[in-house]
Amino acid sequence: MVSKINSIGLFGLDSYMIEVEADVTKGQQAFDIVGLPDSAVRESRDRVRAAIKNCKYKYPTGHITVNLAPADVKKEGSAYDLPVLLALLIANGQINPKINLDECLFIGEVSLDGTLRGVNGILSMAIGAKEQGIKHFFVPKANEMEGSVVNGISIYGVNTIGEVISHIVGSSAILPAEPYDISRIENNNHFLDFSEVKGQTVAKKALEIAAAGGHNVLLIGSPGAGKSMLAKRLPTILPEMTFDESIDTTKIYSVAGELDSKTPIILGRPFRSPHHTVSSRAISGGGAIPKPGEISLAHNGVLFLDELPEFSRDVMESLRQPVEDGKVTISRVAGSLTYPSAFTLVAAMNPCPCGFYGHPTRKCTCSPTAVRKYLNRISGPMLDRLDLHIEVPPVEYGALKSATPEETSESVRQRVNKAREIQNQRYKGTGITCNARLLPGMLSKYCVLTAEAEKMLSSSFERLGLSARAYDRILKVSRTISDLEGKELIELSHIAQAIQFRSLDRKYWEG
Ligand SMILES: Nc1ncnc2c1ncn2[C@@H]1O[C@H](COP(=O)(O)OP(=O)(O)OP(=O)(O)O)[C@@H](O)[C@H]1O
Ligand SMILES: [Mg+2]
Ligand SMILES: [Zn+2]
Repeated sequence: MVSKINSIGLFGLDSYMIEVEADVTKGQQAFDIVGLPDSAVRESRDRVRAAIKNCKYKYPTGHITVNLAPADVKKEGSAYDLPVLLALLIANGQINPKINLDECLFIGEVSLDGTLRGVNGILSMAIGAKEQGIKHFFVPKANEMEGSVVNGISIYGVNTIGEVISHIVGSSAILPAEPYDISRIENNNHFLDFSEVKGQTVAKKALEIAAAGGHNVLLIGSPGAGKSMLAKRLPTILPEMTFDESIDTTKIYSVAGELDSKTPIILGRPFRSPHHTVSSRAISGGGAIPKPGEISLAHNGVLFLDELPEFSRDVMESLRQPVEDGKVTISRVAGSLTYPSAFTLVAAMNPCPCGFYGHPTRKCTCSPTAVRKYLNRISGPMLDRLDLHIEVPPVEYGALKSATPEETSESVRQRVNKAREIQNQRYKGTGITCNARLLPGMLSKYCVLTAEAEKMLSSSFERLGLSARAYDRILKVSRTISDLEGKELIELSHIAQAIQFRSLDRKYWEG
């Protein structure tokens, strides 16, 4: 008898149904798995064999054929152990199902003693399964909570194969998980607060603009000036993620295997801060079946590159396209995959190798060539993509010791939220959510300048020798400054500020 069990596979963040068919015929003992399995699926053979024996079932004698369809998609991992095992025991008559298996889906790695191990990507799978009309999804216990975030499909957390078999034959039922109540987890992004940063009014204003419009930021200043401190607090003034954003970000963590079992859904905006020795593959994503990289793990959040000039040229190059597009395409022989990567880029750097170039009191000990070489590690196109250039001067003693309380993140975030609300309304139905993501064709419609502002922008464009990209980005930043003030048109002062925040490249790079 040929048996059939439903399972599910992943392609990037998307899932597709897999049918696991098993057949046992008389003949020489053999166990073939077909359907382009990789080595992990072949190893599944050994685990399934051991698990069947250890759980007091009989390993079928004869020629076993297991087919994972569709055959033309490369399947990965050990997640098909459970469906393979079940299909096998049904095919040779050891399990007599009393439930409608067409409505059920099974996934999980079995260990030799018959317990189930968790797999990656359950969230995407549960969403996909529900869309395919599956009613009951059996997952390893470790994945139960993650699956139960999805409404409209019953999730069953399974400890052992014995348990799931008892359920199938109707001898004892597994209860479906309670739907996950999101209010159970706190959005605990906020151990840090803006109010801890004394002074630095300009830098804070710039970060507020960045948060309000989703713009990229470069922080430049001497050691100890507070660049890292400021950057780490950016997530605390970003608007809370919407439910859809949470799901999108969580899918990425789920597929990457970065979700911890206690937090089945990510509510706080991610803050990724890879070390400067990171490879471009770890940044962009990759592998035989490409996993998301840092830029995708930062989706809907912040990617912080501390000590920017120390990152390899490869890494900086690999950032260029995703920063522009909000997504990354990873090409492999097996086909290409796209992962979302809409993050706010925050880069920090010293102005020179010793760190004191341009410092008000300390002397820079670097030669002009050394300074130039250091700054030139950041290419023009990279610099162009950093919308707000913020000079972080050393904090003055008076400000540091001042007893005047600084504004809290919560209070700044209220202004940010207001500006975001304006953007949400304005861009309804356009597919974009914030000013930073405005497409070139949208600028003339959404960024209308007063005559004065227009004049200033056109004269600056020539005087400062701006690139077309820098021009577009100045417009978008000025749109955000205007939104923070609740204005309809972009005024002279908005343009002036936006240009001001792009002036460091001239101070440092073209001095
Ligand atoms: N404005 C400030 N208010 C309060 N504390 C500050 C401020 N600036 C700096 N500090 C203190 O100095 C420490 C060093 O700051 P931070 O690590 O952010 O500097 P940095 O600019 O990143 O330096 P580096 O270039 O060496 O990485 C902070 O952890 C904080 O304790
Ligand atoms: Mg630092
Ligand atoms: Zn120096």
